[in-house]
Amino acid sequence: MNSKKAIAVMASGRGSNLKVILESVAAGACPVDVRLVISDKADAEALQIARAAGVAHVVWMNPKDYQDRAQFDAACADLIDHHGCQWIVLAGYMRILSSFFVRRFPQRIINIHPSILPSFAGARAVEDALSYGVKVSGCTVHLVDEVLDGGSILAQAIVPVLDHDTRESLHVRIQKEEHQLYPKTLTRMVEQGFKIDGRSVIWLS
Ligand code: GRF
Repeated sequence: MNSKKAIAVMASGRGSNLKVILESVAAGACPVDVRLVISDKADAEALQIARAAGVAHVVWMNPKDYQDRAQFDAACADLIDHHGCQWIVLAGYMRILSSFFVRRFPQRIINIHPSILPSFAGARAVEDALSYGVKVSGCTVHLVDEVLDGGSILAQAIVPVLDHDTRESLHVRIQKEEHQLYPKTLTRMVEQGFKIDGRSVIWLS
């Protein structure tokens, strides 16, 4: 019987964050059981990564099979509960979650975002930081609530923005930090736990 915390990962794309989480779990550094990986894209590399790592349940959920976003989200939520996943880890999941889904899993959904929130929320965070001309950017791991990229902050890491950065070069630098920060934060959530005070996450012990 596996007593580790079961998590579901939802990913739409390349899956590099999923990959580092799985590597950290395999190395014994992150005490979770990635029991379920869901993607809304049939060709997401994340699905191949999950299968190659031997994740127990790897599922492509086709949005076209559902009448609307609410029904699609309800089917995902049922699957997550069916497999007994306590946490939902968003790793490059490109669909906005319905309020219903977020309310069903209060303080149990986390996301990684490629900026220092609350600056540059939204899908164009890296481009927006560059065009604003900031000199540092980075990534944020946060709880998901009903405000887009607006939940309480669990952890952040910063990187410099260099004079001739492009969206790609800056994103590569940010992702290096993401790959450290996401597994580390997940581990801390399991081992240490946290409480919420106002908007702030207070780590326990
Ligand atoms: C990451 O940069 C993350 O911050 C954002 O989407 C990207 C996902 O990358 N939410 P990957 O699919 O994990 O490589």
